[in-house]
Amino acid sequence: MPITGNAKLAGVFGWPVGHSLSPRLHGFWLDRYGIDGAYVPLAVKPEDFETALKALPKLGFRGANVTVPHKEAALAVCDEVDALAERIGAVNTVVVTPEGRLRGSNTDAFGFLENLIQEGPAWRADAGPAVVIGAGGASRAIIAALVDAGAPAIRVINRTLERAETLAQDLEGPIEVVTWTQRNHRIGGANLLVNTTTQGMAGKPPLDLELDALPREALVTDIIYTPLQTKLLEEAKKRGNPTVDGLGMLLHQARPGFSQWFGREPEVDAELRAFVLAGLAG
Ligand code: ATR
Repeated sequence: MPITGNAKLAGVFGWPVGHSLSPRLHGFWLDRYGIDGAYVPLAVKPEDFETALKALPKLGFRGANVTVPHKEAALAVCDEVDALAERIGAVNTVVVTPEGRLRGSNTDAFGFLENLIQEGPAWRADAGPAVVIGAGGASRAIIAALVDAGAPAIRVINRTLERAETLAQDLEGPIEVVTWTQRNHRIGGANLLVNTTTQGMAGKPPLDLELDALPREALVTDIIYTPLQTKLLEEAKKRGNPTVDGLGMLLHQARPGFSQWFGREPEVDAELRAFVLAGLAG
């Protein structure tokens, strides 16, 4: 859709940013809802990030998403940061207030939960223990989401134990740190299993985890979406577990930013999924 001189502006900061699906995703919504707006990739080097983010109000931008490697830096640069982003330690969504201030939030936790609500409706956070593999940035957002959603127990399993211990201290809540060697049997009794590691991504070995101890009713999800069906999800499906792929988290985390910048609640549906997926193939 052509834009006018009054177009509402937003974008995504990353370095590199060429792989980001966000311009395609927001562009689809702008088009669908006939909004006079643009969402552009903002390829900004780490050393220029602070200057570039602070320039948003001066450039008339409504705000921006922030992706790798800038999410932690964004937390420090924003004028205000909400409590959830503070706990997670990262900002992925920035809104320019009418006064020209930068307000940072983190919508990854929201995106994770909304995806499970839409794609795995039988799962309830408060119905049983969750197991989260990995302790990086994505894991922090997911564990914060699970704590807030009332998960009675969260076991975090990471190759590097100290990283999981730091995460558990920072986030507080019913979080138990489990060693990597214990992983295969400590998925026992869980009602949710989440992979937040990079293992299973295209070009990497699959996640080294045996599912034998996992109840067959447990929901299994992966935050990886290249490929959409990781080995973990394939194996879980084969033994009868419900599974949810990682693309939905990306789609849902984009909703709060879009509605604040462009003034319309966007929908995540099959048409959007197919459109974004086609961008992955290309
Ligand atoms: P992100 O911030 O996107 O979550 P990250 O901080 O690089 O990414 O975290 C990657 C996760 O994958 C970490 O939990 C990492 O484990 P370590 O903390 O031990 O590094 C995990 N990971 C990466 N390679 C792994 C491997 N070969 N086996 C097990 N876990 C691995």
